[in-house]
Amino acid sequence: MSWFWKSLYDSAATFWGALWALVLGTQEFGRASLRSAALAALFGGASSSCSYAAVAAVFCPFMYGNDMGLGAAAPPVRLSEVEHGSPDYGRLVALRDEILRRPLGLAFSAEQLDSEREAHHVACFLGEEIVGCLVLTPQENGRVRMRQVAVREAVQGRGIGRALVKYAEALGRRLGGREMVLHARETAVGFYERLGYVKVGERFFEVTLPHWEMTKRLG
Ligand SMILES: CC(C)(COP(=O)(O)OP(=O)(O)OC[C@H]1O[C@@H](n2cnc3c(N)ncnc32)[C@H](O)[C@@H]1OP(=O)(O)O)[C@@H](O)C(=O)NCCC(=O)NCCS
Repeated sequence: MSWFWKSLYDSAATFWGALWALVLGTQEFGRASLRSAALAALFGGASSSCSYAAVAAVFCPFMYGNDMGLGAAAPPVRLSEVEHGSPDYGRLVALRDEILRRPLGLAFSAEQLDSEREAHHVACFLGEEIVGCLVLTPQENGRVRMRQVAVREAVQGRGIGRALVKYAEALGRRLGGREMVLHARETAVGFYERLGYVKVGERFFEVTLPHWEMTKRLG
């Protein structure tokens, strides 16, 4: 093989090896977990070049900031109920407004907020900041309604939504509930399914968006 063909062959082989490492590494980083970081490092190593691993390592902070996406595994959160009308309740409503209402061009009315006096308001604190919330209302026949589930956008995908729902289920049981019910936005149906909820009935519209009724036994 002449030097020309040999160098062409070597370039193509190198490109092919780099492509797999980068494509697979990028796909994995998209999931932002410890497993992803480990796999991406493996792809970097398997490509036999530190430069590929370096590219993958540089890519992550650009996507996820300084915590390299590894904080996804276990953010140090605290969950607790907050009292209706308290300053923390005001912060919860601000978060609900930011995540669930303003993007739809809607806002809470004073009557709506007043009508949830008897409900249980759950907040998720990350340090001093409230990063997640939900509202729980016991109903008849052992049913508990969960609504207003929201996680601050910057920390979504890190298990905070799951922690909130688990907390709500335990609280629902303590309140004597046997079944959790909710109206899920169609975009969040997969989230609830991961946590054992099932769809019931037909798709319907609420606050301008397609929704599904979902339910789970609180065994
Ligand atoms: C939906 C929401 C509450 C989920 O909270 P989160 O903290 O991002 O979710 P988590 O990280 O706890 O995810 C738990 C699991 O559900 C999955 N998941 C999260 N959001 C999902 C979605 N929209 N669709 C499908 N699966 C989803 C996660 O991948 C994770 O899966 P795993 O079991 O493989 O780990 C949050 O993304 C949010 O506030 N979205 C905007 C408001 C909204 O739609 N609220 C629901 C109104 S009904």
